[in-house]
Amino acid sequence: MRKVALVGAGISKFGVRKASYRDLIWEAGKACFDSVPAVKPKDVQGLVVGSVLPERTAFQSHISSMAAEALGIRPSALSARTEHMCASGTVAIRYAYAFIAAGLADLVMVLGVEKLNQPTSDEAILNMGTGVDRDWEAAFGLTAPPCFALAAQRHMAEYGTTEEQLAMVGVKNHTHASKNPNAHFQKGVTLDQVLGSRMISAPLRLFMCSPITDGAAAVLVASEDRARSLTDRPVWIRGTGQALDGFQLTALHEDYAHWPALERAARAAYWMAGVTAGDVDVAEVHDCFAIAELIAYEEL
Ligand SMILES: CC(C)(COP(=O)(O)OP(=O)(O)OC[C@H]1O[C@@H](n2cnc3c(N)ncnc32)[C@H](O)[C@@H]1OP(=O)(O)O)[C@@H](O)C(=O)NCCC(=O)NCCS
Repeated sequence: MRKVALVGAGISKFGVRKASYRDLIWEAGKACFDSVPAVKPKDVQGLVVGSVLPERTAFQSHISSMAAEALGIRPSALSARTEHMCASGTVAIRYAYAFIAAGLADLVMVLGVEKLNQPTSDEAILNMGTGVDRDWEAAFGLTAPPCFALAAQRHMAEYGTTEEQLAMVGVKNHTHASKNPNAHFQKGVTLDQVLGSRMISAPLRLFMCSPITDGAAAVLVASEDRARSLTDRPVWIRGTGQALDGFQLTALHEDYAHWPALERAARAAYWMAGVTAGDVDVAEVHDCFAIAELIAYEEL
């Protein structure tokens, strides 16, 4: 397999945006092209767009073609959409990686975009419910916050995890966000503010939850030769993994405090890269809810 690298990246401002779905694609796509001035849209052979339920949130389907046209890209090797809830963008990078590693393309853009805010937050939350089983879960109110709250409750019961420990995740992430001009919230929070914020789904409080946000991000993925011709600092993708335990919450695990698919995906990535967890200095894990970050540390 050929070596593959990231050679450029761009991101939009995140938040409750007036920008349309297409505006967000433009913002992230332009920022990505600006990061590698030698690349023009005509040089890009493929586009993979990670996005969840845009048919509901932006009343738009057929989005990889729409995004390609918006960015002036005419795909000659790959045009696809990935849809895996919070993992959509990461899976899109995996698709681009595989195409390039196999020799089917040399330069592919991967873009993730969501326009989740709706005129009312009730509607936005209803939309999020389409990511779980409609008949057996969403219909009974089991949307994402209670799903992750169950994991947190189980983790607390099994390991004695405290509300303070969950709150510390919120403090760290809001502190990081306060230094990021593209972040949705930039005020930072103290431990007392997290612990005093309103309960969303016990034990998860407001500042332990991700917000409903609008935004987009894009990267350019290249083969080794193309990467070396474009930058002297390519970011090599040395390993990647993906795994799935199931769909319904009840079918996923006997124990909600463990997410075996995450462990299997990490093991695949470590094996491919020829490293172990001990070799990793920095981990940027998914933190849709504070408990997700703690379980990710453990599974990785
Ligand atoms: C946590 C959540 C339920 C709060 O929604 P809500 O109660 O309808 O809150 P609102 O949108 O009415 O916002 C009320 C206030 O809280 C703030 N707020 C909303 N969500 C927030 C969050 N997650 N963190 C911090 N502040 C938040 C808003 O900015 C607003 O502040 P303001 O009054 O100063 O303007 C909602 O953000 C949510 O569902 N998040 C999870 C999204 C999700 O499921 N993602 C998928 C992950 S798997």
